[in-house]
Amino acid sequence: MRRYLYVLCFALIILLSLQAAAEAGAARHSALIDENIAVFYPPGFVPERVMPSFALVREFREIGKVPEDWEVIPGFEMEGDQFGVHFPVQRGTSLYGTGEVTGPLVRNGTVRTLWNTDNWTYSRFGGNQLYQSHPWVLAVRINGSAYGILCDSTWRMKIDLRDGIKFLSGGAPFRVIVIQRDSPQGVMRALGNLTGTIELPPLWALGYQQCRYSYYPDSRVREVADRFRELRMPCDVIWHDIHYMDGFRVFTFDRNRFPDPSATNRYLHERGFKTVWMIDPGVKAESGYFVYDSGTQLDIWTRTAGGRNFVGRVWPGDCVFPDFTMPAARLWWASLYQRFMETGVDGVWNDMNEPALFGTETGTMPEDNLHRGGGEIPPGTHARYHNVYGMLMVRATRLGIRMVNPERRPFVLTRANYLGGQRYAATWTGDNRASWEHLKISIPMSLNLSLSGQPFNGPDIGGFDGNATPELFGHWIAVGAFYPFCRAHTAVNTRNQEPWEFGQDIEIVARRALERRYRLLPYIYTLFRESSVSGMPVMRPVFFADPVDPALRREQEAFLLGDRLLVIPAWADDPALPDGLWRSIDLDPGSGGHHANRAIQPELRLKGGSILPAGPLVQSTDGYRLAPLTLMVCLDAEGSAIGDLYEDDWEGYGYRGGDYLLTRYRASSCGDTVKVNAEARSGLMKTPEREIRAILFTGRGTFRGAGTERGGVVIPLN
Ligand code: NOJ
Repeated sequence: MRRYLYVLCFALIILLSLQAAAEAGAARHSALIDENIAVFYPPGFVPERVMPSFALVREFREIGKVPEDWEVIPGFEMEGDQFGVHFPVQRGTSLYGTGEVTGPLVRNGTVRTLWNTDNWTYSRFGGNQLYQSHPWVLAVRINGSAYGILCDSTWRMKIDLRDGIKFLSGGAPFRVIVIQRDSPQGVMRALGNLTGTIELPPLWALGYQQCRYSYYPDSRVREVADRFRELRMPCDVIWHDIHYMDGFRVFTFDRNRFPDPSATNRYLHERGFKTVWMIDPGVKAESGYFVYDSGTQLDIWTRTAGGRNFVGRVWPGDCVFPDFTMPAARLWWASLYQRFMETGVDGVWNDMNEPALFGTETGTMPEDNLHRGGGEIPPGTHARYHNVYGMLMVRATRLGIRMVNPERRPFVLTRANYLGGQRYAATWTGDNRASWEHLKISIPMSLNLSLSGQPFNGPDIGGFDGNATPELFGHWIAVGAFYPFCRAHTAVNTRNQEPWEFGQDIEIVARRALERRYRLLPYIYTLFRESSVSGMPVMRPVFFADPVDPALRREQEAFLLGDRLLVIPAWADDPALPDGLWRSIDLDPGSGGHHANRAIQPELRLKGGSILPAGPLVQSTDGYRLAPLTLMVCLDAEGSAIGDLYEDDWEGYGYRGGDYLLTRYRASSCGDTVKVNAEARSGLMKTPEREIRAILFTGRGTFRGAGTERGGVVIPLN
């Protein structure tokens, strides 16, 4: 009897301690905040230490209880002094997202740190700590259903995907939002709804962009621009890196190198170029310099723990740093753009905004620096606000540009950012290397950024550090023509990297690559519009074509643009491609192929049942007219196809009042012809009177027809 009592007591103790452990790990509070979206608050949650959210576009309302059968439930646990959130993961689940990452597309088995870091050639921290932070994981189950996990915290964090999904942070306990959907696409739309989408960019920002560190003096800028036009190499934007500034002082121009920036901008505009100029956050600490003086007067510099203005070294020498958590600092920063933009600057490039610092062990500010906040943002240490420093900076930059040019859509490029920062700026993937390895990882990098809510991204085409060989540059620009953000850039002291600098063959390849992009602009613009509405990425992983097919989950050489066009790099080694009809298309069928083009250009395949809108070949989008419109058609097994085209004035805000046109075209086979017509239209813009050319791709070859927007097109099949 006594023995039984012992056993019973022992069992009871075990049961009680198990229950206690379970309770320690359970959420303090949870709620449904939307259909199949739940929030979980950990024990010890102190709102003042993590709120307001920087990721969410607005605070949500709770709409009910989390259902009993909810599958994806976090366990909260302290691991030493680290706050941890853990989710078990079913076998066969593929993990993606986690922001800007090197390495494979599938993130299972990886560990990364979210702490915005200037990481030249990705060589520090094993490439697992880069310029941006996205506390976000997308999980795709074996059956193709998916969920997303968003950790609502700006503090330094580790995402450990070696055994399930684990987030670890030395900062304050934070809440977690879980999205459940039938497909990864559904999760992306829900993420867009929660964290906001990009604003529709101006069309010119989707054109090709030429950059180097740096083009100077102004005569060199003009020379590069002229060369593009002479050689008929399409290009929309010329970029100005730091050497245009007077001693690297932001918002100034070097008097010898750029004596008349308005004239430089005018020269470029007259030739159909837009211009983007760089602005960094470090302000030279020098009295007499108007930016330093006005900031000092307003008392808006980031402070040390001891309460003095923090001084750190960047390009101009000793600098102070605006405390962008302060509304007064953001407004002051925005106002600085007035005179700057009035010289004719079209877009702004914010760099070094992790913030990056020279000559320090950590490469950034001390974590105990103080930010004073204001408005909805409470005061806090740099440890708390480090990861959103860049995001707050581009928020202020965007505001400044809008104040100067309220009628034009702004363009801002940023290096540092945080989940949700797509609302303010496009991004590039920092200082990569001119190597095959970095060309190849650029695709999973861009895809994972895209799967983390940032669709408008791309790497430095050609590679930043080092000298690209002609072959590498040719392949890079050929694939790069399909990145959402399409810009070539290279470091100081590297060889010239304009598309004509690599010999005749590569010049031909580059021209063809850029012509392909320019012809596809109507499709790309339509995808950006979709993204701005729904949060869907522009560049998508191949598995989006069939999330149930396990063979596609790891494909990271080929990728999709939208859901109708497959891009297969020439170097792709036995890529996993989706089943079904995907027909190879040529944007200029019958034009023949130079041998280098045949060897280097990626193959393009159009999904059966699709119509792809293409435009005329132009050298820039300045004054863009979409006429004639070309519709590339690939019928499905039933003999029909559809495709959408979005158009507006390409750069203003008229579309918000309905001044746009969204057309759905349909093709159907009809005896020995195929008819292509506009099936439905929405928007208030007048239907253009334009010629339509249709090209039908079939197993028997290509067939063509011509007609008009109103009358449609008939393609004879013989
Ligand atoms: C670092 C950036 O990553 C790079 O793109 C730029 O050229 C240099 N800063 C100089 O501004």
